[in-house]
Amino acid sequence: MENIDWSKLSFGYVKTNYNVRCYYRNGKWGKLEVSSSEDVTMHMAATCLHYGQAAFEGLKCYRGKDGKVRIFRWIENCHRLQSSSEAIMMAQVPDELFKEACWKVVQLNSEFIPPYGTGGTLYLRPLLIGTGAKVGVSPADEYLFMIFVTPVGPYFKAGFKPVPMQIVRDFDRAAPMGTGHVKVGGNYAASLRAGERAHHEGFAASIFADAKTKQYIDEAGPANFFGIKENKYITPDSGSILPSITNKSLRELAADMGLTVERRHIPIEEIGTFEEAGACGTAAVISPVDYIQDRESGKVYQIAKNGEPGPWCVKLYNRLTGIQFGEVEDKFGWCDIIDVD
Ligand SMILES: Cc1ncc(COP(=O)(O)O)c(C=O)c1O
Repeated sequence: MENIDWSKLSFGYVKTNYNVRCYYRNGKWGKLEVSSSEDVTMHMAATCLHYGQAAFEGLKCYRGKDGKVRIFRWIENCHRLQSSSEAIMMAQVPDELFKEACWKVVQLNSEFIPPYGTGGTLYLRPLLIGTGAKVGVSPADEYLFMIFVTPVGPYFKAGFKPVPMQIVRDFDRAAPMGTGHVKVGGNYAASLRAGERAHHEGFAASIFADAKTKQYIDEAGPANFFGIKENKYITPDSGSILPSITNKSLRELAADMGLTVERRHIPIEEIGTFEEAGACGTAAVISPVDYIQDRESGKVYQIAKNGEPGPWCVKLYNRLTGIQFGEVEDKFGWCDIIDVD
């Protein structure tokens, strides 16, 4: 792709050649189709438009040091999409179909996988929506599963730098027995006002307090929160946060690197005791925290020292991205190679 400046890519949309689609009709999935259209046509009474029957995923492909193309833990995204489907009563995409779609869409768009060394990756966006028409509130009979891809740049243009975050209590992203644990569109709609306000007030993300008691840390915008102190990696245990695949990987790496891993409620005041903290997710891997403002009380918890990420954040970031780019041993078997070209 001569006309893409790989070093200038952001986390945005770049048109590629193809996407892949599969329709669920009459109780079964059809054959995977290839499309070059960026549009989706559907009935105006489709359930995704009215009743929020919509779920998505996000995962990445990496051009490695050895030239090979690696896809990271796709089966985890597949299983998470299945649990999203279950939560909002959509047809489930079977493992084999999810895998076939990932492989196909990457192979068809291989020229859009950023070269090794640019920090860029190919982002895959699986989407599952209810397309069947319903006027009464009920699940659709028809679904569309599709994946499009787009090349994305390194999340941190200025390097891996800590960012400020803000705790909010006056908005909830998800209810305690709601859909916070799955990746459905409605959660993101519910998080927009808090997120936009945080950006406007100079913060990179809003950290939601748990909706029930407002005492504990829940989700950190579109990412999971973790804190590090006394050789422990501590991350919230909550039924309303998305089980992040990056967090799961970091927990496994943290344990492998000698940290004790704790998943438990994190009282907001405990933030003051963390030596390091971060938000983790596919897009940024780790966003180290500079300081956290409690919006309600105005209290500020300073975490980063001199605006630099802490040593554990750096070690975890380097090890995980090293595995993804084929630079260090993939001892957990997280990457699969996709043959392209
Ligand atoms: C709400 C939310 N939490 C956490 C994450 C991080 O999850 P993962 O590491 O699987 O990308 C994401 C992004 O997918 C998200 O949208």
